[in-house]
Order: sequence, then structure tokens, then C-alpha cells
Amino acid sequence: MERYFVIVTGEEVPLARVEAQALLATASIDSSIEWHGRVGFFSANKDPMSFILSRAVYVREGGIVKAEASWSCDFDKTELLQTVRPNETFCVRVFDCSRPRASMQDLAATIGGILKRATGARVSLTNAIARIMAIKVGKRILLARSQLSRVRAGIYSRSSRKRTFFHPSLMNVRLARAMCNLAGVMPRGVLLDPFCGAGGILCEAAEIGASVVGMDLNFRLLRGAMVNLQQVGAKEATLVNGDVRFLPISNCDYIVTDPPYGRVSSTRGERAVRLVNALLEAANGIVNRGGKLCICSDSRMKVGEIIKHYGKQPEMCVKIRVHGGLVREVFTVRY
Ligand SMILES: C[S@@+](CC[C@H](N)C(=O)[O-])C[C@H]1O[C@@H](n2cnc3c(N)ncnc32)[C@H](O)[C@@H]1O
Repeated sequence: MERYFVIVTGEEVPLARVEAQALLATASIDSSIEWHGRVGFFSANKDPMSFILSRAVYVREGGIVKAEASWSCDFDKTELLQTVRPNETFCVRVFDCSRPRASMQDLAATIGGILKRATGARVSLTNAIARIMAIKVGKRILLARSQLSRVRAGIYSRSSRKRTFFHPSLMNVRLARAMCNLAGVMPRGVLLDPFCGAGGILCEAAEIGASVVGMDLNFRLLRGAMVNLQQVGAKEATLVNGDVRFLPISNCDYIVTDPPYGRVSSTRGERAVRLVNALLEAANGIVNRGGKLCICSDSRMKVGEIIKHYGKQPEMCVKIRVHGGLVREVFTVRY
């Protein structure tokens, strides 16, 4: 068993934590992440880091823990030799779980010197082969080989405003991707967004490689979803103009969605809560066994109670504060 770590970004920490945990489960690793602020540790007997770093929105970096010492840096030489190879260049970064913003230049230089003497490897701050994280947790320092996220920069540079077709109801790119990750979306799985609007969630699911099915009452938005899906090169997409109360699909692997709320999405006079009731009732017969639903809504809609009303228990719930009094809740349900 190896010990691994992830460091999540400072925004939306509760959402970041559940995203990392959900990706671990999607990688079939039955291990709970132990959190120390923004740093999480877990043990596993296969390496899930490449998968996590290619999928997570909120994981900044992660890797394998190789050595451990007290604050006096009394590292074991054999462990140091496993951290960096003599022919590698390396750099050291320090992360203190209790003071994530503090500068730790001195400690980084001390550990750099120790590694250099123990392994014979050279320091390179600009072109290092090995990125070494020294993580201060309680009274211990852990040394880990770390890799940066492979998708974060791409996801952060995209914005729903840069989609070919923009509408204010389009879901934010990061939340859409994180919700797909919470639902465990995998390539070739079938994902339904029954309130798909202009396709924010559908585009992220298509980027992952899922087959997407979108439905919406508003034909103009559906046309927007079509051009947005073309922009991301979606291979398998079906769009249906219709009402969530009459879903024309008999099975799918995931439902990832956000029902209408606020003034930007019209329901043509129906109460949004009724539409959510209709969806959750239908989901019991549509989502394949082992599949998942992930839904984001205004907390005033009390979606947790609706989920229970249809005989399910929310697997998890995270609150996201938007502005003023508006709080969004993200739930997942397993079928
Ligand atoms: C918050 S937006 C969805 C955003 C979208 N999921 C995304 O990823 O960008 C809610 C959508 O629900 C649609 N809608 C409202 N009533 C509906 C109904 N009865 N059946 C299906 N869609 C409906 C609205 O037209 C609107 O596009």
C-alpha cells in the first residue's frame, strides 16, 4: 500500500473535498480521504493519481508520499533515496496545512540541501524533473513526489461566456465539470440532463467522453446546446425538445442537472419544485443500477426532502454560497 496526497484549491473547499473523494470511488478505490485543511491523504494499492489529475477541477496537485520526519528534518536516508533519483533535477515546495498562505522559503532550502546531500541530485527551480512537496502536518513533515493537475488550467481558461452560444442560464464550467465528477461520469456512459438549456453540463460530459442526452422546453436554447456541443467536438449527442414530466428515455447511467430557478430560466408558469418532483419520481425507473444522479438547486427548493420522498437517501450534500441570501445545494443519489 502506498500513501498518497492531494492538495485542493482554496475556492469551494467542501466541494473540492467531495470531488476528490468521488473520483477515488470512480477509480474503484475504497479508501476515505483524511483531510487536514486543503490537504488530503489516503492509502491505496493502485495509483489513482493520473486519473484524478486528469479529471478533477479543484485538485491542484497530488502524488505519492515517500518520506516522513519530525520538524527537525531527521529523514531516513533510504526514504530520501526513494524520493529523488541521483540523475534527476528537483525543486522543493512547502505546504503547511495550518498556514497555507505563509512563505516557507527557508524550510524549502533546508530540505533541498538535505535531499541534495543524500541523493546527489541537482536542484533546478525552473526545469525540475521531480517536484517535491514538503507537507507540514501537525508535528510531522511529509516528503512527496508531486504532479500538477493536467486539466485545471484548461478548465479555468474556459468560461461559459466563451461558448459559441451564450445564455445567462448556462452553467458555470467548473461546477458543471465537478458535478460530472461527483456523478462518476465515465467515457461511453450515457448521461441525461433533462433541463439542459444551452448545454453547459452536456459539454463537460461530452469532453469526458460520455454519450449525452439533453432535453429542454425552450427550442432556442436547445439550438444553442447543439452549437456548443459541436464546438467541443461531441461525438454522441441527442437533443430533445420537451417537458421533463414526459421523459422519452428508458434508461441512462447518470442524470446530472440543475432545475430552473431565478428569473433567467422560464418554466412557462409551472412551479419549479413540481418539475423536480416529476424528475425524481421518474429517475427511479430510468437510472441504471449503480448509476448516479447529481442535482444542483436553490436550497429553498429543499431537494433533500424530495429525494427522501421518492424512497432514496442523498449520498452527499454540499452547500455553495452564491451571493446575498442565495445558497445552492448539490446532492448526489446512487441507484
Ligand atoms: C438552469 S437552466 C439549465 C442550465 C443547463 N443545465 C446547463 O448545464 O447549462 C434550466 C433550464 O430548464 C428549462 N426548463 C424549464 N421548464 C422545463 C420543463 N418543464 N422541462 C424541461 N426543461 C425545462 C429552462 O428552459 C432552462 O433552460
